[in-house]
Amino acid sequence: MASAPETKLPGTESPDAGSSFIEEFYSPVNLIIIAIIFVLVYKIYAKFTKVPAETPAVELPKIRKDMTVAELRQYDGNQADGRVLVAVNGWIFDVTRGRRFYGPGGPYAAFGGKDASRGLATFSVMSSDKEYDDLSDLNSMEMESVKEWEAQFREKYDLVGRLLKPGEEPINYSDEEPEDTDTSTPSPTEDKKEQ
Ligand code: HEM
Repeated sequence: MASAPETKLPGTESPDAGSSFIEEFYSPVNLIIIAIIFVLVYKIYAKFTKVPAETPAVELPKIRKDMTVAELRQYDGNQADGRVLVAVNGWIFDVTRGRRFYGPGGPYAAFGGKDASRGLATFSVMSSDKEYDDLSDLNSMEMESVKEWEAQFREKYDLVGRLLKPGEEPINYSDEEPEDTDTSTPSPTEDKKEQ
């Protein structure tokens, strides 16, 4: 008859086995690996849970104002209030809510304080340094894409005003209802396209 397999009761192993396991576990190499794993796990956790310190704690007051390209440039998120504006198809939007995208260090920071139309149309995150881009050389597909982006921005962000062409006068919105965002006027780029 086969004898029962030998089972070791706790504490009956050779005294060396346990202590050498502990010694190996706490070897300097293992401790360094464990420390690295902890740091990496912490960094990944912190990245996904952290609210950027620069995120404004309070919602900024809404602004309603037409701006030139030069004025728009100031709103790239680097000022004290961190406000970020982006222009699309001749309209300026307050994208401060999306400053993790458009604010300093964000993947689309090149659009912050800029007219993003051309970049969005051509699918390239590039910064426009033009004084005013009339987008006249974009093809119809690219213009369609700009309009779709504009619609998306309208849905997600507050409208600030129009991006002024050189010589164009700003509208005075001070008498307007705060929520009145009249979109009936054609886009500043549209009048040209529809001729
Ligand atoms: C490999 C390439 C790309 C990847 C993986 C990518 C990924 C993403 C993701 C995941 C979002 C949604 C983020 C969210 O809502 O939480 C997003 C939004 C966006 N992407 Fe990209 N993207 C890429 C390229 C581009 C390019 C080239 C442009 C510029 C033309 C662009 C412009 C945008 C814009 C404007 C938004 C909207 C942000 C907002 O909601 O305001 N992306 N992208």
